[in-house]
Amino acid sequence: MKILDALQNPIFPLVGRLADEAGLRAFVIGGYVRDYFLNRPCKDIDIVVAGSGIDLAERVARELKTNVTVFKNFGTAMIHAEDIEIEFVGARKESYRFDSRKPVVEDGTIEDDQLRRDFTINAMAFGLNRDNFGELSDPFGGIRDLNDLRIQTPCDPDKTFSDDPLRMVRAVRFATQLGFDIAPETFDAIERNRERIGIVSRERIITELNKIVMAEVPSAGFELFDRCGLLEFILPQLARLKGVEYVNGQGHKDNFIHTLKVLDNVARVSDNPWLRWAALLHDIAKPQTKVYDPEQGWTFHAHEYLGSKMVKGIFRELKLPLDERMKYVQKLVALHLRPIILAENVTDSAVRRLLFEAGDDVDDLMTLCEADITSGIEAKVKRYRQNFALVRQKLKEIEEKDRIRNFQPPVTGEIIMETYGLKPCRTVGEIKEKIKDAILDGAIGNNYEEAYALMEQLAQEKGLKPVAGTNEKQP
Ligand code: CTP
Repeated sequence: MKILDALQNPIFPLVGRLADEAGLRAFVIGGYVRDYFLNRPCKDIDIVVAGSGIDLAERVARELKTNVTVFKNFGTAMIHAEDIEIEFVGARKESYRFDSRKPVVEDGTIEDDQLRRDFTINAMAFGLNRDNFGELSDPFGGIRDLNDLRIQTPCDPDKTFSDDPLRMVRAVRFATQLGFDIAPETFDAIERNRERIGIVSRERIITELNKIVMAEVPSAGFELFDRCGLLEFILPQLARLKGVEYVNGQGHKDNFIHTLKVLDNVARVSDNPWLRWAALLHDIAKPQTKVYDPEQGWTFHAHEYLGSKMVKGIFRELKLPLDERMKYVQKLVALHLRPIILAENVTDSAVRRLLFEAGDDVDDLMTLCEADITSGIEAKVKRYRQNFALVRQKLKEIEEKDRIRNFQPPVTGEIIMETYGLKPCRTVGEIKEKIKDAILDGAIGNNYEEAYALMEQLAQEKGLKPVAGTNEKQP
């Protein structure tokens, strides 16, 4: 079978011609071939060469007048041509670790190289030499597995996974992204080898995990992780959300199932990875805060605060960023119940407080909160939705009127200190806090004049006198 339209980029005939001239056999292999059949765009091209990959890369770079980066230890070389990245590698035989610093490199045929790859769908290649240009080489049934929507290893899965245990996570990632099943023997091998994921670096795992989080239906990945036993090793805090406990015949909902529904709900409306992470972690502290109260039933008091405190540790363990992206997740987890509470009693002052605390993230918070409604009781869902519409409308009204989002109280600590000749102290903090509260409660407007007047009143109550020449009412 010759498939020429997969190789329309002029780089392919060029590589083929130079390979012919050097007496080498070259193939494009892996993700590029898989994505061609899946109709997915692919920017990275992997070329495998029976012979020296570096030699061919250098010839191509000379012809294109571009630079080549050589990784001698790995026997690979990389070229950037326009916006594509092309990696050249010599065909290898036997096992070697994809992440090892000391790979066991033993030259092999193209078929040897295909056999030691992760999955059949990633082990297909197109010939690039003149005599086989565009010819598909698929010795392990990649096309069959693409048609059957199956993730399967080309050789004994125990061997494939022991060569590189990250491939167990990759199996789950590809199954999630593509909506495929993992073949039973491959799946069983993941179950058997799951503990070996411990030797893989967190950085490599998080790359795959983020791809799962960003998939169309991310829950599929976490369900698979759970079924094959990898979840315990990858995100144990999430595994702890599983299960239902009963007291007096009363059970709570399974928070693992609930969390995955919330994640999918968010994924349906947002591509923001951090909003998706917030969905995944929003109830993470429920197991630690769970109490059965004979009157109220199951309670999870303050799980949102404890959960937000847990975010940092989880981000650190997973090697996720510890910057403002983590703070955003912390904030959303901490505030995730607020719009629901609001929905039951929408007062202007509560809306102002929410706007003040959530700032620019208030819309994302509303998205998370709406996604959090996973009840199966139709009437309940309807009531919440209606109340949320009301909250959204109120947020808009108050924002337009008072501009509370990201507001800083118009009378600052400096102004208070200067006016009354004070050094930083509790009194200054108290006056400032009262002014902020008065604005948020709607007792005074969000403007300098009213805030200044309140400062004067509060200072007088505390027996403070303005120092001479500082009673200017100017911002
Ligand atoms: N590969 C492998 N084992 C790994 C990683 C990669 O066998 N642990 C092989 C596969 O043949 C894969 C190719 O190397 O197709 C390229 O890997 P990579 O660039 O990481 O991913 P892709 O498969 O191209 O997928 P994606 O672009 O979606 O990351």
